This record gives sequence, structure tokens and C-alpha cells, in this order.
Amino acid sequence: MTPDELLPQIRASGDVPRHVAVIMDGNGRWARQRGLPRHLGHREGMKSVRDTIEGAVDVGVEILTLYAFSTENWARPPQEVSALMGLLQLYARKERAELRKQGVEVHILGELERLDDRTRSAVEGIAEATRGGDALRLNLMISYGGREELVRAARELALRVAAGELDADEVDEEAVEGALFTAGLPDPDLLIRTSGERRLSNFLLWQLAYAEWHISPVLWPDFRREDLYAAILDFQRRERRFGRVPSP
Ligand code: IPE
Ligand code: IPE
Ligand code: MG
Repeated sequence: MTPDELLPQIRASGDVPRHVAVIMDGNGRWARQRGLPRHLGHREGMKSVRDTIEGAVDVGVEILTLYAFSTENWARPPQEVSALMGLLQLYARKERAELRKQGVEVHILGELERLDDRTRSAVEGIAEATRGGDALRLNLMISYGGREELVRAARELALRVAAGELDADEVDEEAVEGALFTAGLPDPDLLIRTSGERRLSNFLLWQLAYAEWHISPVLWPDFRREDLYAAILDFQRRERRFGRVPSP
């Protein structure tokens, strides 16, 4: 079905997830299927990023969180890592004006100190240029790992306790949440993973505690807004219980 057919169905089916998180996977397989080098799969994936963002704005998602590069991805061959860093720079340069025009506010979350200077300043530049956008908050997770995030949070809280700013009893869920990269944001309601894989790969370990999962068979470079809309319709059919009994 086309996006124009799916949108009214979503509108008629109830609430749209406020926060959607996506594990964008399958670029390498997309390239391999075509006999192309892997980096061309990553490049093609940029079109999917654009279309997914526009689709999220149109359907009324408030927060979109995209997993672009994991801490484990640093262990890929150096030429692939540098191709990915180059693409992040290209993305930041090419998309910045358009994102600003669409009212998308970009936040870059992850261990940015591990990025080379050019990549870091390019991605920080896009965040700066889009500040104040109120149509969608886009979190680009770069050099991000869920375990590292929790370790950082634990360290930060330990330092505050040691400095006498915080009591050990005050280390509760709210305090941990406030020390994450995503501090202050509602948890994702919906997690999408493309390319059929069924694992978290160290993504948002804390925040995904109660997200609904949608596994899409589509490889990321082929993912378009209609696939996002299909995932949202799937989400709308779920009954979220949060450990309680079904509502009568
Ligand atoms: C996702 O595609 C992009 C990143 C992890 C950066 P992959 O590169 O993981 O593609 P596959 O899984 O090898 O097909
Ligand atoms: C997860 O995909 C990371 C990103 C999408 C950025 P991977 O392709 O790196 O994950 P694994 O290795 O299949 O678990
Ligand atoms: Mg992969």
C-alpha cells in the first residue's frame, strides 16, 4: 500500500507512538546482493534515513532515534569505518538545510570523543544548525553502546555521591535515567529492526524495557516511509500491559 493509503488507516487506528527507535540494519547485504562494495549500501541507506524522517514528521511521531554506528562497529575493517565516517560528514553537509527547513531538531548521542575531529565537528554542526526545530526530535546514535551508556551513568552517579552532592539512597530509577544520553526523553514505544535480525546489538538497553518490537524483513537501503507506517499499524494492534492484566 502507498503512504497515502496508510496514513488515514493510522489516523483511524488510535495513538501514534510518541517515540520510535530504529536499528538500521542490512546495508552490507543490500550491497552484496548487487555485487557492490559495502560502502555503497551505506550510501544508499541515506535515502532511507531521509524518507523515514519525512514519514515520521508527516505521521506525527515526536521523537525518532536512529542507531547509526555502535561502539562495536569500531571493530569493522578500517576502510569501512572511514567510509562510514565520511558518509556521516556528507550527511551532515547535505541534509542540514533541509532538516532545518522541516523543523527537525537533531541531537547526536554517543561517545563523541571517539570520533575524528572532522566527523565530530560535522555532526555537532548539524545539531547546532537545527536547534529549536519543533516538528521532530531526531536522535542520531553515533558511537553508541547501551552498556557503555550505563557504565557512564554509574560513574557519574558514583562521583556525585563521593562529592557529597547525592545520597546513595537517592540513586533510584529517576537518577539513573537522568544520567543517560537520553535524559528527560520518554522511552521508545516502538523499536523497529530492519533486515530480519532479532537482537538488540547493545542498543538502548535501559530505555527499551517496555518497547514493542517490529522486525521488518526489508534491508535498510530499501526501507521507505510505507515500511515505517506498516510498523506503526502493527504497533497500534498491540495491547501494551506493562506487567498488569489486560484492561477490561
Ligand atoms: C547497518 O548495516 C549499518 C551499520 C551497522 C553501520 P550493516 O553494515 O550492518 O549491514 P549487514 O548487516 O552487514 O547487512
Ligand atoms: C547494529 O547493527 C548497529 C547499527 C545498526 C548501527 P550491526 O549489524 O552492527 O549488529 P550485529 O553485529 O548484526 O549484531
Ligand atoms: Mg548488520
